[in-house]
Amino acid sequence: MKKLFIALCLVVLSALEAGAQGNNYIQDYTKFDGLALTPPMGWNSWNKFACNINETLIREIADVMVSSGMRDAGYEYINLDDCWHGDRDSLGFIQPDAERFPSGMKALADYIHSKGLKMGLYSDAGSQTCGGRPGSRGYEFQDALTYAKWGVDYLKYDWCNTEGLKAEGAYKTIAAALKNAGRPMVLSICEWGNDEPWKWGPAVGHLWRTTGDIFNCFDCIEDHGTWKSFGVMQILDKQKGLRQYAGPGHWNDPDMLEVGNGMVVNEDRAHFSMWAMIAAPLIAGNDLRSMNKETIGILTNKEVIAINQDSLGVQGFKYSVKDKLETWFKPLKDGKWAVCFLNRNDNAQEVSFDWTKELVQDSLAKRDLGKKLGGYKIRNLWTKKELGTTNRPLKTTVPSHDVLMLRLSPN
Ligand code: GLA
Repeated sequence: MKKLFIALCLVVLSALEAGAQGNNYIQDYTKFDGLALTPPMGWNSWNKFACNINETLIREIADVMVSSGMRDAGYEYINLDDCWHGDRDSLGFIQPDAERFPSGMKALADYIHSKGLKMGLYSDAGSQTCGGRPGSRGYEFQDALTYAKWGVDYLKYDWCNTEGLKAEGAYKTIAAALKNAGRPMVLSICEWGNDEPWKWGPAVGHLWRTTGDIFNCFDCIEDHGTWKSFGVMQILDKQKGLRQYAGPGHWNDPDMLEVGNGMVVNEDRAHFSMWAMIAAPLIAGNDLRSMNKETIGILTNKEVIAINQDSLGVQGFKYSVKDKLETWFKPLKDGKWAVCFLNRNDNAQEVSFDWTKELVQDSLAKRDLGKKLGGYKIRNLWTKKELGTTNRPLKTTVPSHDVLMLRLSPN
């Protein structure tokens, strides 16, 4: 017995010694679990303000997030995009731009948290951000510790100036750095879909950009010379074939919203509806301080948001196209479905849909609308009116660049 006890002690001691030498240190290259179980919702500074940001603006945005009802509608993150950075100090620690953020990032995070919101920051896997500020390459663990100390909850990590790096490895490094820093943070992978992040991203981050940048137009491509940005319809088309990669905790990111940035109201409504249908992160990108009634109405439509936030977490799909009129379906929990008729034409288009003649099947969600034909109540999520049941064919008109968005509930 005594011998056994001594032998056991020796085993424990040698294990401890191995530990002291660092032999059992295992780097964890995976994201924090349990975050972004539904698509993240919030606001980001880039689409409207680009590099022109400061702490007063961010505080005011946080205030309006609450007073406009957006927080109560589900928006949570206040995300600073590029250009919050100053230089690194002599030890390599990143500093905020002292002129624009004189109170520092910890104070700003505290303010945002005091409003019941969370704070996001932006960095880049390369030597410099796209806006030419210090990138995190070579400073990943140091930056992650700094963000954690400040109280950051979300990191968007961009892909400019990354010569010689491979995306999967670079994003795994920052994921490991965040894990090591210990503060749970959502990791937003922003490498524009170049290296098929949907294939390796789910274990590493919570969302990944699937495309280049969005441009504030419904249907156009903007040529910037060395790069292009894309209108809402162009981005939507680029989501083809990606829905099987999305789910709770890991989402396709077709870029931030342009709602309220200048498109006409029906285009904004169509944009928001389609982002809801494809389970996209809902990150507003407009000046919340000067929103008109229509913009607030779109961004805070709780029934449309509920389609996006449905806990089943299944991205919707295009069921059919006829004369530039698209019909999209999204399976929801409790046997419900969302349906969206999207009119991409420059003129109004008639919709005529006989539910009992269509066979809508989703092999991904293993759901079959066909078997319940006629058995659903219909609600229009924009007019908030009940439209009878699927026993009767639907016949109506959808204005140009607009949607008819419905929820079907089993009778
Ligand atoms: C890239 C990203 C954008 C934005 C800018 C900032 O273009 O894709 O979303 O973050 O950089 O410079």
